[in-house]
Amino acid sequence: MTDASAPTLFTWEFAADPYPAYAWLREHAPVHRSTLPSGVEAWLVTRYADARQALADARLSKNPVHHSERAHAKGKVGIPGERSADLMTHLLNIDPPDHTRLRRLVSKAFTPRRVAEFAPRVVELTDRLIDSFASRGEADLIHEFAFPLPIYAICDLLGVPAEDQDDFRDWAGMMIRHGGGPRGGVARSVKKMRAYLLELIHRKRGALRDEGADDLISGLIRASDHGEHLTENEAAAMAFILLFAGFETTVNLIGNGTYALLRNPEQRRLLQDSVAQGESALLASAVEELLRYDGPVELATWRFATEPLRIGGQPIGTGDPVLVVLAAADRDPERFAGPDTLDLARRDNPHLGFGHGIHYCLGAPLARLEGQTALATLLTRLPDLQLAVEPEELRWRGGLIMRGLRTLPVSFTAVRDVTN
Ligand code: HEM
Repeated sequence: MTDASAPTLFTWEFAADPYPAYAWLREHAPVHRSTLPSGVEAWLVTRYADARQALADARLSKNPVHHSERAHAKGKVGIPGERSADLMTHLLNIDPPDHTRLRRLVSKAFTPRRVAEFAPRVVELTDRLIDSFASRGEADLIHEFAFPLPIYAICDLLGVPAEDQDDFRDWAGMMIRHGGGPRGGVARSVKKMRAYLLELIHRKRGALRDEGADDLISGLIRASDHGEHLTENEAAAMAFILLFAGFETTVNLIGNGTYALLRNPEQRRLLQDSVAQGESALLASAVEELLRYDGPVELATWRFATEPLRIGGQPIGTGDPVLVVLAAADRDPERFAGPDTLDLARRDNPHLGFGHGIHYCLGAPLARLEGQTALATLLTRLPDLQLAVEPEELRWRGGLIMRGLRTLPVSFTAVRDVTN
C-alpha cells in the first residue's frame, strides 16, 4: 500500500496521539505495509476483525527463524538482549507443540489462586509507595508509583529475596528507559538478570526438599507434566518473560489509566464515588475500558507468515512479519460503539488489550489485580489528584510495542500524618 496521503507513523507527534493515524489506516489501508524505524518492513493490521483472526492464525509463527529478513539475528526484532543472553525459548517466541508444553507447565505454578492469595501483598506495596510521597503534595506517578509497583510485585511473587529487589529495579529501569534506544546497556542488564535468575533457580532447586517454599520459581521447578520438568535454562527464560511481559505493561496500565482518568473528570468522578462506597463492579469494568481506550501494548509482538496467506484480503508472503495493532483494533467503530469515548461502565467490551488465542496474556489476573488496586488506592488516598503540567508537555516512550508515558507529574493536597 503506497498511498501518498498515508499518515507518517512512529514520529514523536504520532506517539503523543497515534489514534487519528490508526483511524486513517483502518479506513484506507487496513493491512498496511510499513517501514519501521529500524528499517524492517512489516504488515500492520488495524481492523478489529482482522486483528482477532490474525492473533489466532496458526500459520503466523512466533518463532523469528521464519522471518525472511532474519532481522532477529541482527537484533532488530524481539526483546533487546534476549538473543545474546540465550533467553530465546520463552513463550512469546515459540509455537506449538513447545508452546503448549511450556504454557501448561507454567500454568500449573502461576495459577489464578496464587494471584488471588497475593492480593493483600499488592495492597501493602501500593500503600507503601503512596506513603513515600503522600506528604509532599506532588509526585511523578511513573517513577515513584507505576514503575516500582510491578517490579516489587513480580519479584515477590517469583521469590526474589527483598535485599536483591533493588537490583531488579535498576535493571528494569535500564530496560524501560532505553527500550527504544541504545541497546548495549539493555543487553547488559538482561545478561545480569539472567545470571541472577539462573543462580536463584539453582539455589531454590537445592532448597526444595528441605523447605516448603511456595514462591513461583519453586513452583516452576516443581511443576511437572507427564514426568517432564523445566530445565534450569527453561525456568530462567520463563522467569525472565514473566518479568519482562509483566513489568512495563503494568507500568503503562497504571500510567495511561491514571492519565485517562485525569483527562476525563466526569468518568473519574463516577469511579471515585463508586470506590468510596466500597463497590467493585465499576472498578473492574473501568480497568477493562482503560485497557481498550489506551492500552499498554500498542502492537502485539512479532508474528511471521509460514506460508502465503491473506489477511483482510491482502496477500501476505512467506516470511513477512505481521504486527497486529491492538490500539487500532480496540478503537474500531465496526466493533465498539463510540470507540474514542472513555466509558468506564462499557458492557460490551471484548478488547484485545491482553491479546487473543494461544498467546493470550498469562498474567492477566495479576495485571487486573495490580491495576484495580493501584487506581482505587490512588483515588481514595489522594482524592484531589490532578495533572501538574499541561498534557502537551508530557512525553511518551518511543518503543514500538509498548505505549506509555515517560513521566506523569501530579499534585494533590499533602497528607501530613502518614504513620507507616
Ligand atoms: C502475553 C498484555 C501483564 C505475562 C501478553 C500479550 C498481551 C499482553 C497483549 C499477547 C502478546 C502477543 O500475542 O503478541 C498485557 C498487558 C498487561 C500484561 C496489557 C498489563 C496490563 C502481564 C503480567 C504478566 C504477563 C503482569 C506476568 C507476570 C505474559 C506472558 C505472556 C503475555 C508470559 C506470553 C503468553 C504466551 O505467549 O503464551 N500480555 N500483559 N503479562 N503476558 Fe501479558
